[in-house]
Amino acid sequence: MEVIHTVEWMKQVAREARAEGRLAGFVPTMGALHAGHLSLIEAARRDASPVIVSIFVNPKQFGPAEDYRKYPGDPEGDRQKLEQAGVDFLFAPPVEEIYPAGFRTSVNVEGLADRLEGKIRPGHFRGVATVVLKLLEIVVPRFAYFGRKDAQQARIIGQMAADLALDCEIVVRPIVREPDGLALSSRNLYLSPAERKAATVLYRALLRARSAMEEGERETMRIMGLMRQEFAAEPLASLDYAEMVDADSFEPIMRLTRSCLVLLAARFGAARLIDNMQVEIVESGGGAGGVVCTL
Ligand code: PAF
Repeated sequence: MEVIHTVEWMKQVAREARAEGRLAGFVPTMGALHAGHLSLIEAARRDASPVIVSIFVNPKQFGPAEDYRKYPGDPEGDRQKLEQAGVDFLFAPPVEEIYPAGFRTSVNVEGLADRLEGKIRPGHFRGVATVVLKLLEIVVPRFAYFGRKDAQQARIIGQMAADLALDCEIVVRPIVREPDGLALSSRNLYLSPAERKAATVLYRALLRARSAMEEGERETMRIMGLMRQEFAAEPLASLDYAEMVDADSFEPIMRLTRSCLVLLAARFGAARLIDNMQVEIVESGGGAGGVVCTL
């Protein structure tokens, strides 16, 4: 695996691959790699060659009171994982390479970026869209891979790629979970043993919502109420939101009549974690129809 630190060098390598008729698969990350990232790399290896991974902790997507300076990092461990995963190139630029003095441009995906995570973390998605577009411009991959755990991020990046007619397919891959259901996240490293146990409330709340929907509940207020009850019983958790939204617009829905997402965000000590579940409505000849939930 070749490790690349400059934009010009990365562009040159990407240009050469294209000149050879190769289609790159790209996995942008902020490091502290876990099995969720590795599942994106596996998918990239199946679809594309070369496989390029970036590690860049993007200052523009952190608010002033957030964990930019403390974001977990393990450069040597990450490098070994990427070697073992068969990655061809690691792009690990310093901040000044991506944001040189005088950098002024930002990308905003209107509407979608202001709700939920965007409301609690103002400017977060502007920072994400800006860096992702810049990385895609440097690497020019045929495919770029994102995890569904960050469902709003994935939706925003997909919208950006469509709006700007990017020649890159945005691939959104399933959530990878621990055996007890906790979604993998680099921020899980912040959890104390007691908080780690408590954090399974995210999964438990989603399961409770799923059971209610499978039993026929269609009023989102009631389903959200059940999830809040789960959190209320977990003293180490502080719920930011439990929402049900249209999978396309991310607008809240009142009744479950179409595909939607159940979204959760909560704090456990220093860790702020998110999770979600996709809900599809399946028609059953003349009856009320069922739901298929993907956790
Ligand atoms: O999901 C992440 O790790 C980051 O938001 C991303 C997409 C690498 C942009 O910095």
